[in-house]
Amino acid sequence: MSEKDNAHEVESSEPITRRKVLAWLTSMGILGSAIVSVFSNFVFIKPRATYGLPTRFSIGTPNDYPPGTRIALGKERVAIIREGEKMAAISITCTHLGCIVGVADTGFACPCHGSRFDQDGNVTGGPAPRPLPWYELSLAPNGELEVDKGKEITPGKWFTV
Ligand code: FES
Repeated sequence: MSEKDNAHEVESSEPITRRKVLAWLTSMGILGSAIVSVFSNFVFIKPRATYGLPTRFSIGTPNDYPPGTRIALGKERVAIIREGEKMAAISITCTHLGCIVGVADTGFACPCHGSRFDQDGNVTGGPAPRPLPWYELSLAPNGELEVDKGKEITPGKWFTV
């Protein structure tokens, strides 16, 4: 009989006692608790904040907005207006309580409490306390228009393409 067979015989001849089973279960319980603890700490430490869209973003080229365009970019919450060679980026977040205003040829209308704004975003009716802000619009070196919602500009200050 070889040594290997002897070793196997010795191992298999040891009885599995209740103490061994309990020790094994305790070890597995402690190990499982440690794994859950490490995982939950990792989840807790990892930042879960969402920072939303960047304040400066590209909206395509001027050719994407032919003269007469009045279009709302819902995700970015901004309306792009083009009159001839003039362009503007006007907020579509109502200055009353923050609903998204609808864009029409006559201006902007809020569906929540009935505020009305003219084509330049000035309040013409309803509870809105302020006009809709205008944002800086610029042309990037790659020829794309960029809106910077971090920079409000004087209403009526159009960007010329
Ligand atoms: Fe627009 Fe109230 S949120 S009128």
